[in-house]
Amino acid sequence: MNDSPAASRVSEVPGQHEPVLLDEVLTHLTSIFDRHPKSHVVDATLGLGGHAAALLERAPRVQLVGLDRDAASLKLAAEHLKPFGDRVQLVHANFAGLDTVLPDGFAPVQAIIADLGISSWQLSERGFSFQTDRPLDFRMDISEGDTAADLVNGLPEAELADLIYQYGEERRSRRIAKAIVTARKQERIGTTTQLADVVEGAVPRRGRLNPATKTFQALRIAVNDELGSLERGLTAAEQVLKPGGRIAVITFHSLEDRIVKRHVKDSEQLTAVNKKVIVPSRQEIRRNPRSRSAKLRVAERI
Ligand SMILES: C[S@@+](CC[C@H](N)C(=O)[O-])C[C@H]1O[C@@H](n2cnc3c(N)ncnc32)[C@H](O)[C@@H]1O
Repeated sequence: MNDSPAASRVSEVPGQHEPVLLDEVLTHLTSIFDRHPKSHVVDATLGLGGHAAALLERAPRVQLVGLDRDAASLKLAAEHLKPFGDRVQLVHANFAGLDTVLPDGFAPVQAIIADLGISSWQLSERGFSFQTDRPLDFRMDISEGDTAADLVNGLPEAELADLIYQYGEERRSRRIAKAIVTARKQERIGTTTQLADVVEGAVPRRGRLNPATKTFQALRIAVNDELGSLERGLTAAEQVLKPGGRIAVITFHSLEDRIVKRHVKDSEQLTAVNKKVIVPSRQEIRRNPRSRSAKLRVAERI
């Protein structure tokens, strides 16, 4: 990173999310910016703009469109990316529709970054975690769809168990679903703490992992249709990438990584740039424990 005025202002943003696998992402995209300094780039999961800011600093003539489903997050990113002026445009959208939401004339693009999941800001401020007591919502886009509370209080027991098993890879899903159904007969489960207590009452803690971790992951994936969005987003990305353009995807659990790996393998339009998945260094994990489950795959448009 350089010491430009933009860089120093960028690092002052409070609660900033440390971009995961940043050097590795930039290394895989730099050759494109060397060949095409005025590249058009999409950050499909802008968050607070950590990856975007670093990229805009590294490649000073690049134009970037940042997408996010979370309007509040996009507002913070707008502040964060102000130093880059009209090189940045922000769009409130799900990247599943990447081929339809970009501003007129922006596509085709030379590069796409997708850093999946949620930011540390959302984790603490938007009630995605059992560590803060918040309404049980979990929607990234609060303008649409069912909340986690709707699913937890409304789904039949068997469907709830399947959801927790499938998206949380939780082997104890039936026991958890049973406990949820018993608890909701007494009182609607409306907060993150209530749900975490019900899960913890149903399944004993094993090791350091909170027993509710996988149930929370499952509900978040279901509420936001994260896997469906990823599938559709990868297909849409093929439509907007220029031949020779690259897409870099960072995933945080095996369900997402499997989708990316398989999509690239089966695609007639993409070829894998890194045959072996890229993971964070030990130093990065020590500095930023959130990065420990991250995996990066980069693919090139044929
Ligand atoms: C891990 S954070 C990205 C952090 C960002 N790279 C940074 O360095 O600040 C993921 C962001 O992507 C957004 N997001 C997740 N799925 C999305 C989707 N399908 N479409 C658009 N945005 C999405 C989330 O709301 C969140 O703000």
